[in-house]
Order: sequence, then structure tokens, then C-alpha cells
Amino acid sequence: MSNVTVCARFRPRSSRELRDHRDGVCVRGIDAGTFVFQDDKEDELTFSLDGVFYEDSPQAAVYEFLALPIMRDAVNAINGTIITYGQTGAGKTYSMEGPGIQDCDDHNKGLLPRVVDGMFGQISSSKDIANYTVKLSMVEIYMEKVRDLLDLSKGNIQIKETKTQGILLSGVTEVPVSDSAEALQHLCTGLANRAVGETQMNMSSSRSHCVYLFTIQQDSVKDKRVKTGKLILLDLAGSEKADKTGAEGRVLEEAKTINKSLSALGNVINALTSGSSSKVNHIPYRDSKLTRILQDALGGNSRMALLCCCSPSTSNASETLSTLRFGMRAKHIKASPRASEVKIAKSQEEPSSVTKDEKCGRILEKMKERMSNEDIKMLEEVLIHEGIISSLDSMDEVESAYEDIVSKTIQSLQLAVEELQLKVKKLETENKGLKEKALRNDEPGLVGKLSSFISSWYASFFTS
Ligand SMILES: Nc1ncnc2c1ncn2[C@@H]1O[C@H](COP(=O)(O)OP(=O)(O)OP(=O)(O)O)[C@@H](O)[C@H]1O
Ligand SMILES: [Mg+2]
Repeated sequence: MSNVTVCARFRPRSSRELRDHRDGVCVRGIDAGTFVFQDDKEDELTFSLDGVFYEDSPQAAVYEFLALPIMRDAVNAINGTIITYGQTGAGKTYSMEGPGIQDCDDHNKGLLPRVVDGMFGQISSSKDIANYTVKLSMVEIYMEKVRDLLDLSKGNIQIKETKTQGILLSGVTEVPVSDSAEALQHLCTGLANRAVGETQMNMSSSRSHCVYLFTIQQDSVKDKRVKTGKLILLDLAGSEKADKTGAEGRVLEEAKTINKSLSALGNVINALTSGSSSKVNHIPYRDSKLTRILQDALGGNSRMALLCCCSPSTSNASETLSTLRFGMRAKHIKASPRASEVKIAKSQEEPSSVTKDEKCGRILEKMKERMSNEDIKMLEEVLIHEGIISSLDSMDEVESAYEDIVSKTIQSLQLAVEELQLKVKKLETENKGLKEKALRNDEPGLVGKLSSFISSWYASFFTS
């Protein structure tokens, strides 16, 4: 079981940080993954992550350590997710994109263009083994709505879940891309549509979470088998304190929504990493669009890499500490990605003019003649829930209702346990009080006499 790769990256101090807090750096490196961090009370805390990058670390080093292994696996049909996380202005977008996607020198290129180059490089070297088809989708989660960045007319994409494909974005634009240049061109178009604003902390602050999704399909030359890997890159919007960013009006509303979805992400990570493995925890994926989209990645069926972007300045020590704590927590997520479902290419499938859903529909129709409508409805729900027939909308509703019931049952059981524990405590205290009272009132030997009376009473009761 491989765990999530978590790294920290400290950007160079901004001109503002240099001006206001000249020597205030709160981090000192120890080795490749360990560093000492000084919090705002000047206590020193040692952190050990998979890797740590400092202001002079090149973009290529971050890519090679964090993203390259995940990209390689995705081309081999193992899903992967790469996330940049951190406070506003901490370097998430810089790490993901670099100073720009297309017109950027090689040295400064971010993870995204490097992943694209690496992916097509690997694909061209595997051409004799398989034919590859790559599709690109790009959405942003802005004010709790999923917007298609490659087609702005799709302003409220629904998130669905199916048994075979897991979480998917219903109706999202998927553009086929055949090489690096084409992919970068589409990425640029999408990025031009992303919501960006200016705050006191960042001249070009991302006001949305941006999701880049590559679907890499591999048709084997040898046996016509098809495998698919999903690669998600996610540039989160940063958490922010309104007094620091000077947010007001619309920007403040955006900040509230961003912070809320980041707390939902924190809650999901807490739920995933707390509690014993035997206890079935309710994971609140449905509390935000962000956590719902990440459900497969966080739930374990994906390799995951998290880059915790931080400011090195003492003025941001409390935000940096919370970013690092988030990273430490995420390290405990258990990931066990499976290679994608392997299926025979369509041309080899058993020819059939009737789909499975249609067959089930006919059977249900027949049954209606003998069973009540309610029973039929229940059966239909069970079939949908078990993935035997598909009805995306009702499946979502049924699962949602099912999750709600489970979560409510867990909550009421937890309440009952808490009540019982309180009662036991109360009884224990009462019992203790009674004992003390009895001892205090005890004439010499009263308690002893009482207990020997009780035992002789018991003995006579059982012998008679
Ligand atoms: N490693 C780095 N090297 C050089 N400059 C950097 C680095 N990281 C960040 N910067 C600069 O810091 C500023 C803020 O970075 P960026 O926009 O990436 O922050 P962010 O975390 O995406 O913030 P937000 O959450 O507001 O979108 C930018 O001007 C960026 O160029
Ligand atoms: Mg950003």
C-alpha cells in the first residue's frame, strides 16, 4: 500500500515580505525531507515530509520528484492526482504553470507543461505497444459551481458517479489532443477563462480551484485490449484571511467560498485519517464540489502527490504552520490505486442490439404485472444501486439518500453511546457517594456485618 507523496515548497520572499520583515525567515533545512520551522511563538518544530524545496529549487526538481512518477503511471493506466495547496500567494499557480504556459523559458516551466511534454514523450516511445488517445478537459470550481473552461456555455457541470468510471463530470468538453503543442494551446485558451483577481497578498490571485483532467486511453496493438488512466492536476485557490488580503465585496464572497471548500477538504482528510480501520467512518465528500470531484483520488483509487506551497516569511508563520499540518495529515491517507479496468475493444464485444438497461427494463415491465408498483420501484433502486442498470440521476439520488441514512444512523448511535457513557459516569459517582456515606455512618463493623448478611442471604436463597 503506497501512501501519498507530500512535499513542501518555500518560495522566495516577496518584495513586500523583504521590506516589512527583513530577516524573518521561519524555516531551516536539515536534509532532503526534514526541516525546522519556527512558529509565531518562536517555538521550533521539526517536520519530515517526502521532500522539501526551497527558494532556489528549480521547477525541474519539483517535477521530477513529485509529478514524473505519477505521470508515468497514468500513461500506464493507473490514475494519478497532483495537487498544489497553500495560503494565497504561496506559489501554487507558479508551481503548477510557471510564469506562463506557452511563452516561458525551459527553466521556469511549471508542472503542467512539463507533465504534458513528459506524457507525449512517453506515449511516442510506446507507439509499437499501443495506440494512445489523449483527451483534455478543464474546469474551475468557482463559487461552488463547476464551470467548463473549454466551453463557457457550460456554467454548471454536474458531478456524477458510476460504478465503472467512478466520479465523472457530466457533459464536460473533452478535446482530443495529439501532441504537446496542441494540448498547451487548449490549456492557454482554458486558462484565459479562469477567474483571477487582485488582492493585497497576490497581484494575480486565483479565485477558483482549477482542475486539469487528462484521460489517456491505451489500445493494445497485440490483443485489442483497452486501458484508461486519468491524470488530474489541481491548482487550488488559496486560503486567506480577509484582513491580510484586504478583501471586500465580491472578492470577500469569493474568499468565503474558497475557505469553506478548503475546510471541507480538511474535514474529508481528517475523516479519512482518523478512527480505527475497523470503524466505518462517514467521509463527507458531498460537502463541497471540490471534495466530490476529488472523491476517487482521496478515496484511494489514485496515486496522489501534494505540494504544500508556503511563504518562508515569519509574517505568514501561522498560515504556513496550518499548511504543513494539512500536509502531515494527508500523508496518512492510504492509497491503493488499481490499474484501470481492462476491457475488450468495442469491435470485439458481443454484438447486441439490446442494451443491458433495456433488457432490465423489459424484465421490470413483466414483473409489474405481478408485483405492486412500490415493490418494483424498490427493486429498480436496488438494481441501480448495485450498478446492474444505470440511471445516473437516480443513482446519485439513491446514493445520496443512502449516505444520508448511514450518516444519520452513525450520528444517532454515537449520541446513544455518549448518553450511555454519561449515565454510567453518573451511576458511578452516585455509587461512590453512597459507599462513602455508608463508610462515614458506619458504626464499627456495620459495612462488614451488612456484607456478611447479604452473602448469607444469597447462600440461603440458593440452597433453599
Ligand atoms: N518558486 C517561486 N519562484 C519565484 N517566484 C515565485 C515562486 N513561487 C511564487 N512566486 C511568485 O509569487 C507570487 C504569488 O504566486 P502564485 O500566484 O503562484 O500564488 P498562489 O499560491 O497561486 O496564490 P493564490 O491562492 O492567490 O492564487 C507570484 O508573483 C509568483 O510569480
Ligand atoms: Mg493561484
